[in-house]
Order: sequence, then structure tokens, then C-alpha cells
Amino acid sequence: MIEIIGVTKVFDNGKNKVKAIQDVSLNINKGEIYGIIGYSGAGKSTLIRCINLLERPTTGKIVFKGEDLTALREKDLRSRRKKIGMIFQHFNLFNSRNVYKNVAYPLRGSKLSKEEEKKRVLELLELVGLKDKVMAYPSELSGGQKQRVAIARALANNPEVLLCDEATSALDPKTTNSILELLRELKNKLNLTIVLITHEMSVIKQICDRVSVMEGGQIIEEGTVAQIFSQPIHETTKEFIDTTTNRGKIYEILNKEENIFNIKEEDVLARVAYIGESTTEALLSKGSRKYRIDASILYGNIEILGETPIGEMIILFSGERENIQSFINYFREKGLIVEVIDHEGSNSKVYTKCS
Ligand SMILES: Nc1ncnc2c1ncn2[C@@H]1O[C@H](COP(=O)(O)OP(=O)(O)O)[C@@H](O)[C@H]1O
Ligand SMILES: [Mg+2]
Repeated sequence: MIEIIGVTKVFDNGKNKVKAIQDVSLNINKGEIYGIIGYSGAGKSTLIRCINLLERPTTGKIVFKGEDLTALREKDLRSRRKKIGMIFQHFNLFNSRNVYKNVAYPLRGSKLSKEEEKKRVLELLELVGLKDKVMAYPSELSGGQKQRVAIARALANNPEVLLCDEATSALDPKTTNSILELLRELKNKLNLTIVLITHEMSVIKQICDRVSVMEGGQIIEEGTVAQIFSQPIHETTKEFIDTTTNRGKIYEILNKEENIFNIKEEDVLARVAYIGESTTEALLSKGSRKYRIDASILYGNIEILGETPIGEMIILFSGERENIQSFINYFREKGLIVEVIDHEGSNSKVYTKCS
């Protein structure tokens, strides 16, 4: 649906050059909710603004439904842009116009009669659950309501794509949930493709199908949300995941001087993860008997992403080193993801002998 091909964006004010995007390529499929996560300054807003050419890429192409937008003339670009709606962190409403006029704004020049326009505006407000606020001014609305107005406005021209730039970052958690639910509902009802950028992993977890992690203007990791959660590779990705689970806490405890789990030098610690149905517990007791190893679970967590459970555990293995390795291999053969935790620098070191 959207192909970002080798896009680079350099901001050049004559004195300084800022390379905001560096050679980014991405494919976004029709009907998916695609998330891009990164810290502030990573280049997310610049990238999403390149999609509808609010920023023109310095090099590279944006192909939308098979057509290279960067090659279009201004007039053709304007008409294609109508198929790509956008919402923002701070809503960008006209404060001096009421809700009706805000939502009707993109319909100007569309040859609708006054009656047709009114019908359309009310229809849009109905979609976002704000029909009763049609005469209100933005200053009379809550943040969540303002974002609903912005969504109605973005949908006025029946776009096929909705770009969301930190759309929930100015909202409290409960309002965030309701806006994300609304986006998901609209996506299904209107057959939308959604590209969403955020610095919050909880947002990605709640509604995205696939995700890219951005840093320094580049995509450093990409995958389905389930893949990224079960097997994050990059440190930054792990940091983002740690913000939505207690995993970070357990590592903190493991790194403390005090050895509260009574871990011995010859023990092995490992992170074990799975996607989908878990047979881990059965495998744990079977393997434990088979290889004569004690295995205790120090931490366990299950995330439900969409419909898919993603499980994660930190397991302490005690016994013969070779048998522990066989046990780990057995887990891997059964499809579990196992990473031995290298634990140097803590009170209980030497976790490096198994792989
Ligand atoms: N119009 C601009 N002129 C100069 N530099 C810019 C401009 N817009 C963004 N940048 C720079 O590009 C980098 C990426 O910014 P941005 O895309 O806004 O990141 P994010 O949305 O991930 O916080 C930053 O270093 C920022 O200062
Ligand atoms: Mg931004």
C-alpha cells in the first residue's frame, strides 16, 4: 500500500545540516496498523511527514498504491493527499471555529451542497461519538474530545490511510485507551490502513500489527509486535519493552549485591520465551526429570498481543553443566526461545558457560 524506498531527509538551513532520516525503506500493507516507535528526536515525525510529502524526502521515493508521489505535479499530489488523512499530538484544531466548521474544513471546494455537507459532518461526528458537540468550540472540549474532532476531520474525504503522529501522547491513560479503541474500530469499519508513531510501547502493544524501532534516523529493528516482544534484539527495543513489563525490575534485583535468590556460581540463568500456546510447564517438569536438573521460575509474565499470548520467564537451572546445556537444547528443539543471561558484575557471576 505504502512503500518507503531509500528515503533520506536532510534539513539544511545554510549553516547546519541535520540528517533526520537516513536511508529508510519500509513497506506498509493495506489494512494493517503499523507502528513506529522511538525516543524523541529519532526522526519519527519527519518520516511520517515524508509519507504524505508534508516533508519532501531529500532522496528516495514514496510509492502509494503503485504511484511514486515524489514524481507527481503539485495538483496531482493534492488530490492523492486527500486519500491520506493525518492527526497530531496537539490536535491542530482551529480554535476560533466550532466543531462543525473544523470538521467541514477539508470539504471546502468539494462541490457538496450545504445540505450534503451537513449530512457528511454529522455522519463523521457520529462515527467518533461526538454528535452532541457539533456547536461547541475546541476550548469547551476535553483532550480526548478534541482528538475525536481531529479524527472526524481527517476522515472527511474518505481517506484510505490515516497517519497518527503521537496522537495519544497528550492524553491520560484512560482517554488514550478509548482513542486507540476508536482507531481500531474505524480501521475495521472503513477499511483503513493506519501508520502510527509513538514513544510509548503500551500503544504499540495495544493496537499495532507490526512495528519498527527508530533511532538516529534509521530503522534499527522491525517485525510483528509478537516477534519484537518475544525476541527483541536491539538494546533500545529491550528498553522500550521493559517499560511495559516488570522484566526490568527482575534484572535490577539480580544485579543487586544481595543474592536474594541464592544463586550459586555454577547455576545458569536463562530467559525463556514463547509465542502462542505454552507447553513450557510440562516441558519444564519433563526436562527436569530427564536431565536431573532443578529448574525454578524466578519471574514469569504473559502478554496478550491481539489474540496471541507471548510468555516470558526467567529460569534458574541448577545441576551438572552439561545436563543444563542439554536441557536448554531440549527447550530450543521444542520451539522455545532461550537466551542465557550473561550476568557479570553482580554478586553471582559466571553465567557464561552455557550458550
Ligand atoms: N524543520 C526542521 N529543521 C531542522 N531540523 C529538524 C526539523 N524538523 C526536525 N528536525 C530535526 O530532525 C531530527 C528528527 O526530528 P523529528 O522527526 O521531529 O523526531 P521525533 O518525531 O522522533 O521526535 C531532530 O534532530 C530534529 O531536531
Ligand atoms: Mg515527533
